[in-house]
Amino acid sequence: MQNLPVRIRRLRKSDSMRRLVRGVNLSADNLVYPLFVCPGKGIKKPIQSMTDCFHFSPDKIADEAKEIFNLGIPAVLLFGLPEKKDSKGSDAFNDNGIVQQAVKNIKKVVPDLLVITDVCLCAYTDTGHCGIIKDKKVDNDATCEILAKVAVSHAKAGADIIAPSDMMDGRVGIIRKALDENGFIDTAIMSYSAKYASAFYGPFRDAADSAPAFGDRKTYQMDIAASAKQAMREIELDIKEGADIVMIKPALCFLDIIFQAKQRFDVPIAAFNVSGEYMMINSASRQGVFDKKSAMMETLYAIKRAGADIIITYFAKEIVKNKII
Ligand code: PBG
Ligand code: ZN
Repeated sequence: MQNLPVRIRRLRKSDSMRRLVRGVNLSADNLVYPLFVCPGKGIKKPIQSMTDCFHFSPDKIADEAKEIFNLGIPAVLLFGLPEKKDSKGSDAFNDNGIVQQAVKNIKKVVPDLLVITDVCLCAYTDTGHCGIIKDKKVDNDATCEILAKVAVSHAKAGADIIAPSDMMDGRVGIIRKALDENGFIDTAIMSYSAKYASAFYGPFRDAADSAPAFGDRKTYQMDIAASAKQAMREIELDIKEGADIVMIKPALCFLDIIFQAKQRFDVPIAAFNVSGEYMMINSASRQGVFDKKSAMMETLYAIKRAGADIIITYFAKEIVKNKII
């Protein structure tokens, strides 16, 4: 018999064929949409640093949440801009704080939408650091005590999932214990486990007014060139301390970490497609560098294929609304 040529292109001949054999699938089920809550009433104000993103006051955010839920996106992730900042980030654990009000309002209107709350102090401290400062340094253990109070306060308001993003050592265990002791045994923890000291948070820090007033976050967020083993150690510890879901952040420069985490651990893996990654695509496509939809989908498929079960992305609403997936 003659040697027939191998024709791999047979499986690429039409859109239907490509879809049938692709094996990597994105659905609204995989997505989390981040939202920013600000003080005031009747506010829905465009965020200058982030295309198509808005600041919502607590009374307006439930409408947006309802739209997200009706699109089939299962969860939102809330970030708050407080009324006031101080050395301890006290507004973060104010039971009537901005995030707490937003959670209550969303849960009233769309009880089945999962509400995830970012737990950190950087938007709430007068230094803009994720922890409280003692002798010019971030005090790890004192910060964890405060984070536990923030988590309990969010759970009390009705949050389904608490997402600590501070990178203090031991905070997942301390938060889990505090939640359990206060009766919130069913409130889950999605830990920002491998979170890097990245340049790609720039647009977010403008949006959340959370840039550090001095120094940087390199003593608590991971070194961008740290070996993958360090990331595995962070993730492993968080799982041992009680994290239900672990997160890698940012996504694009750390796809290898997502891949390794997926191979190694049995908990759901989340990846945060962060503000700078979002704005790279928005800015470049606005300048005609490439087609936005194609670049966006290539990015999201890459994150999915690397192993992310959950993708937190500012693109979530747009791709579901425009029926791109
Ligand atoms: C707060 C926090 C940050 C982000 C999420 N939570 C910023 C930071 O650590 O400085 C970044 C999100 C994004 O860039 O989209 N700790
Ligand atoms: Zn922070």
